[in-house]
Amino acid sequence: MFGFGAMIDKLKKDPKTIVFTEGEDSRILEAASRLLASSFLKPILLGNEDKIINAAEDAGYNIRGAKIIDPERYERFDEMAEMFYELRKNKGITLEQAKETVIARNYFGTMLIKMGEADCLLGGATYSTADTVRPALQIIKTKPDNSVVSSCFILVRPSATGGNEVLAMADCAINIKPTEDELVEICGETVQCARIFGVDPKVAFLSYSTMGSGKGEDVDKMRNAAIKARKKYPDIPIDGELQFDAAVSPRVARQKTPDSEVAGYANTFIFPDINAGNIGYKIAQRMGNFEAYGPILLGLNAQVNDLSRGCNALEVYSMAIITAALS
Ligand SMILES: CC(C)(COP(=O)(O)OP(=O)(O)OC[C@H]1O[C@@H](n2cnc3c(N)ncnc32)[C@H](O)[C@@H]1OP(=O)(O)O)[C@@H](O)C(=O)NCCC(=O)NCCS
Repeated sequence: MFGFGAMIDKLKKDPKTIVFTEGEDSRILEAASRLLASSFLKPILLGNEDKIINAAEDAGYNIRGAKIIDPERYERFDEMAEMFYELRKNKGITLEQAKETVIARNYFGTMLIKMGEADCLLGGATYSTADTVRPALQIIKTKPDNSVVSSCFILVRPSATGGNEVLAMADCAINIKPTEDELVEICGETVQCARIFGVDPKVAFLSYSTMGSGKGEDVDKMRNAAIKARKKYPDIPIDGELQFDAAVSPRVARQKTPDSEVAGYANTFIFPDINAGNIGYKIAQRMGNFEAYGPILLGLNAQVNDLSRGCNALEVYSMAIITAALS
């Protein structure tokens, strides 16, 4: 599996505890059994203990060593509800509403991180992205120096010259219509994440225009964001606004923007909004034969990640390693 050796080595030295919100799901059980066999991650499976054990036995997965927590029987439940109430009482919730909220596994799992019982969380095998991410936004919160939580995908395919071609794309999953300043922050976070995956980032702020060839509000947004990002991160090659062909094709780049140090060779892509980003990474995945890892959430105080509901056990396993290694 691509580039996971370094992450696994890191986890072997410092194993992390990861919560899986959908403990009864067969894909989670398969991934958990594989993780338990390697012992660099400590899984917590949320759900009814009998159901989880029976589901694992029926499917032939050995989950011995996994901690199973049933929110309905959790001994620190009242403390958890109280803590959530304190966090959210300024939103007008009652203690009773806090109890009703934290019994749900997406909230319960996120509260386990807040209470120091776990380092990170992976959910979304059955929950929507919004339902997986919302508790993290409300409970874990944005890092002190960040203004938004965002996300990126890492895309990987074998390269024609050997090794792997690795790209980063953002924000394809969280911010629906990021502002110029949010795009600058998304760029900084994505660059950091891309480096962890061995990318030497060359960042393109994407648009339907290359350096003024087209006009419009969104063109201005991407150009201004690229200018601000270059100013903020002077050591990173950043350019924009660029069309996708100018960003990746040296021939097109020579024609459209010959002086750019990024155009033709971009490997880190900042999209104008979630429509473009989500469609873009899926085209790369479905038609470009890239493996897609993500969305990897950026800018949270602890690592919480979202699975696609169509995920398989291998994707759960890889995302668990990524989630824990970034913790
Ligand atoms: C992420 C998302 C769920 C947040 O939506 P929401 O829950 O309706 O957001 P709200 O405006 O009600 O905000 C909820 C809380 O999260 C915070 N928040 C919302 N977006 C945030 C962001 N990008 N970064 C940091 N905090 C954020 C709000 O400040 C608010 O905090 P508070 O309750 O403590 O005041 C929403 O932006 C979304 O649906 N994004 C698209 C997800 C998606 O469908 N992706 C495609 C599939 S991969």
